[in-house]
This record gives sequence, C-alpha cells and structure tokens, in this order.
Amino acid sequence: MAKPKHLHLRSEQDTRDLAAFIAPLLQPGDVICLWGDLGSGKTFFARALASELGVSEQVDSPSFVLLKEYQGRRFPLFHLDLYRLGSEAEFLDLGVTDLIDEGVTLIEWPELAEKYLPKRILNLSLRFSYRGAERTVEIVAKGRFSAYFI
Ligand SMILES: Nc1ncnc2c1ncn2[C@@H]1O[C@H](COP(=O)(O)OP(=O)(O)OP(=O)(O)O)[C@@H](O)[C@H]1O
Ligand SMILES: [Mg+2]
Repeated sequence: MAKPKHLHLRSEQDTRDLAAFIAPLLQPGDVICLWGDLGSGKTFFARALASELGVSEQVDSPSFVLLKEYQGRRFPLFHLDLYRLGSEAEFLDLGVTDLIDEGVTLIEWPELAEKYLPKRILNLSLRFSYRGAERTVEIVAKGRFSAYFI
C-alpha cells in the first residue's frame, strides 16, 4: 500500500480541484471512501466529483435513503451515506456489492462497509484545519490508484 499523501485544501475551490484531478482517473469498479467528521466536506467533494463526471442532477445528502444513483457521462455514480446504517447486514441488504462493477461508488461513513469492498480503493480522510474553509485531506490509495498519488 502506498504511503498516505497529505494535501492542504485552502478553500472550497481546492476541494473542487482535487475532484477534477481524480474524476478522469475513474472507471467502473472504482470505490472512493470518504472519511471525516460531520461537516468536514465529504458531500461537498461528492458533489464536485459528480459534476466533473457529468452528473446534471443535484447531488444531495443521501442520509435517509443510504444510497442514491446518478447518471454520469461515462458511467453511473453510486453515492452512499452510511451514517445511519445499523449493521453490516443492513449494508449487504443494499446490494451494493453487486452494483460496484457497474459504476463508480462513493461512500461517506464507510466503517461498516469496509470489509466488503474491493481491493482498489481510494481513501480520502478530510479534516478541519484551523480556519473556516480550510481542510486537510489524507489520501491512501490502494490497488491501481497508488500510481497516481506518490
Ligand atoms: N475546503 C473545503 N472543502 C469542502 N467543504 C468546505 C471547504 N470549506 C468549507 N466547506 C464547507 O463545509 C461544509 C461541508 O459540508 P458537507 O455536507 O460536505 O460535510 P460532510 O462531511 O458530508 O458531513 P456529514 O458527515 O454530515 O455528511 C459545506 O458547507 C462546505 O461549503
Ligand atoms: Mg455528507
């Protein structure tokens, strides 16, 4: 596994730029896990990525439905927010493991899903920085993603 890479995101625009860097690298079967506290920017990143992937629909916070599917230019985007998920069994009931190969999957609060996910994962951990719109992100790339984050 590659060494974690740390980036300083000085503004929302830096977070959009990170999404714009990652979007063209994606292909069906890829999974991005978004870690970080409430309000750290996981959904903000998901929206920016969706926009880069050509999703025209508004991406909302899927907390109450756990899983939402969007149509991107090249493939579907599955957006999950597992904050309210009760158990691993509930995750398996969502049927996500069968969908993964069809599109790109973004998962907020991925703890309960982690052991069912494929090997090629991009882990982004967002943290608050000392000023309002600043964040730091730790990137841990597994599988084919490692080559892009060295
Ligand atoms: N550099 C930044 N990157 C991302 N979001 C930022 C940044 N600076 C400020 N923000 C703001 O922080 C907020 C992040 O909210 P967001 O809904 O993305 O958090 P979240 O991590 O998805 O939280 P939750 O765990 O509740 O789903 C947004 O209001 C966004 O505009
Ligand atoms: Mg969110």
